[in-house]
Amino acid sequence: MHHWVAVLVISSLALVTESSANAQSIRYDEARHIWLLTTKQNSYAIGVDSNGALRNLYWGAPLWRMDDLPPVLPRRELSSFDPPQMMENEEFPGWGGTRYFEPAIKMTRADGDRDLVLKYASQKILGDKLDIDLKDIHDEVDVTLHYTVYPDYGIISRSATVRNSTAAPFTLDSAQSATWYLPPGDGYQLTYLSGRWAAETQINREPIHEGDKVLESRKGHTSHNFNPWFAIDHGDAAEESGSVWFGALAWSGNWRITVEQTPYRQVRVTGGFNTFDFQYPLNPGESVDTPEFYAGYAANGRGAASRLLHRFEREQILPGGLTSRTRPVLYNSWEATTFNVNEPGQIQLADKAAKLGVELFVMDDGWFGKRNNDRAGLGDWVVNPAKFPQGLTGLIKHVNDLGMDFGLWVEPEMVNPDSDLYRRHPDWVMNFAGRPRSELRNQLVLNLARDDVKEYIFQSLDKLASENNIKYFKWDMNRPFAEPGWPEAGPANERKLWITYVRNLYEIIDRLRRKHPKLEIESCSGGGGRVDLGILRRVDEVWTSDNTEAFDRLRIQEGFSQAYAPKIMSAWVTDVPNQNGRSTPLQYRFLVAMQGALGIGANLNHWTDHDAALGTKMIALYKSIRNTVQLGDLYRLLSPITNDVTANQYVSSDGKQAVLFAFRHSQEFNTPAPAILLHGLDEKAVYRLESVDGKLIDRQGPLSGAYLMHNGVHLNLRGDFDSTAVVFERVP
Ligand code: GLA
Repeated sequence: MHHWVAVLVISSLALVTESSANAQSIRYDEARHIWLLTTKQNSYAIGVDSNGALRNLYWGAPLWRMDDLPPVLPRRELSSFDPPQMMENEEFPGWGGTRYFEPAIKMTRADGDRDLVLKYASQKILGDKLDIDLKDIHDEVDVTLHYTVYPDYGIISRSATVRNSTAAPFTLDSAQSATWYLPPGDGYQLTYLSGRWAAETQINREPIHEGDKVLESRKGHTSHNFNPWFAIDHGDAAEESGSVWFGALAWSGNWRITVEQTPYRQVRVTGGFNTFDFQYPLNPGESVDTPEFYAGYAANGRGAASRLLHRFEREQILPGGLTSRTRPVLYNSWEATTFNVNEPGQIQLADKAAKLGVELFVMDDGWFGKRNNDRAGLGDWVVNPAKFPQGLTGLIKHVNDLGMDFGLWVEPEMVNPDSDLYRRHPDWVMNFAGRPRSELRNQLVLNLARDDVKEYIFQSLDKLASENNIKYFKWDMNRPFAEPGWPEAGPANERKLWITYVRNLYEIIDRLRRKHPKLEIESCSGGGGRVDLGILRRVDEVWTSDNTEAFDRLRIQEGFSQAYAPKIMSAWVTDVPNQNGRSTPLQYRFLVAMQGALGIGANLNHWTDHDAALGTKMIALYKSIRNTVQLGDLYRLLSPITNDVTANQYVSSDGKQAVLFAFRHSQEFNTPAPAILLHGLDEKAVYRLESVDGKLIDRQGPLSGAYLMHNGVHLNLRGDFDSTAVVFERVP
């Protein structure tokens, strides 16, 4: 709910309301009922027509003159089959009257009336926030559209509150966050991310034709299959050129984004709660908020669009924002020990990790209950006394004495049937009474929509964090929902589970973080199954993928970076041959992982002295460039999808340092690597170059920004899975 505390200021002369003295991020022409929302990078305009319909007028590059915006006139019917409403780009259309496209909201009243026609009622501006109230033409179904403008970030967010101010209950059949409209036209191209377990965030590009393209999750979590992000261009955008419209939905449950081209050259993007199996009753006086849908426009390509999102996430979404710390170098025990954790084994790994320069030691699965494999123990969040006779205290003290923080894996939403928790509370899992309970990885999903389950999870984690010096939870979620029944809620209410589950998940994490302000959290769902701007408001990083094979990772990371900042992209160096049998050199694995939040997941007991020396060198190098990687601007120079050389460059926010990573997977005999043209440098400045391993063919410098960006650098990358990195320091 939004609480308005300030007063609306209207300039009587110009009848223009300005949101704030500095940026005028929201301007309102009261006489003409037009709003212009502006950031440094884009503008967005809406207006009310003489019938009271709220309509989208513009989304694109920044506008400065409100008078340019035309009067909002109702359209005429083209034919009896082409009603005006179909062409009017309504900002938040209900399903009612003569509307046949994807609605932003659809409802059923208790008496069966399903018609909903929303008209403008009122508005409020407070700083960078605008609320517009809509009301049904017939009864008190109230919808408030919330707009937040982020003037420095090129981002606008939208969400809606639906309120039942009538005297009778009604049910929502669809509740979306927003409908976005592209400038009318054809030839648009959609970019989206799809995948599966261990192959997340694969990039797809396809033309938008008439009809609907649906991106969604029906699995209860964000899911590996689609990620709630889109980008649309005219089919001509490249990494660093062309107009790109993009958006990201902040919801970690069933979500849907529908990209729709109508027969009238409209391209509409509607997103919010998935309508599949959706039914949300509202009693008189009740309301529901839809998730935030963030969107922006970038004039200079997909790279620019990503950089807008990255900065926005770092500074406005992640807990702590600007003040949050850079990610530490982490060690995780999973691939080394799987479930075979115990105090001496973890201590042995911790000793070795500390010597390499690791800063955060995370013990993964296997430490609790009767957890010796994936068949038992989930739900019993008590330390296994056989594996840790003195509890976690001894291990944590040892880790802390080595100068590292301690982190712990948990999977709080799950239960194995073979657990004390399930034996005590078989009714705590989601289920349809009397029907089978489908297991995946031998586990069932607790019904977090229940208050008692929510409380149990909070108490279990709070106890762990209160009794032990735990700085970090890796919060896992290793299966989707099935049989999402909630018998105690009754048939009319039980589909609220889809929403209430996610809200309670958010609430548990928020409460934990409030009580333990230093606690950090990693979101994991069998790798990247829960990555979205909703969970990112409350976690510090995410586990990108269970696939840690370095060459596969280049593609996963390229897709991930379309939407999400390198700072949150957890990436480990693991042992070879890896999952798919491929072996890449240790340096290659390090350099791939150093493009995000670096971690080590290898079995250090198997490392040779030579491996350890290289690891120590790479971690030290990472620490000298991590501010640039984690907080700088990313330029994707060469893509692993289209080239035998992949190259990514990061430039620090003060422009003083840049770092180039380059990888080659299969050189054809005697074919040189292409010249790599750098981006984002100052043409007039000169830079000192430092190559990690002497594979830089050019002079070590100093070289000018102009030369580096137009002539590029040449790298001696040869054979299979070669790699290198070059660090550029601006000469003062
Ligand atoms: C999931 C995670 C892994 C690991 C295992 C433990 O698969 O993605 O990183 O934590 O669970 O069971």
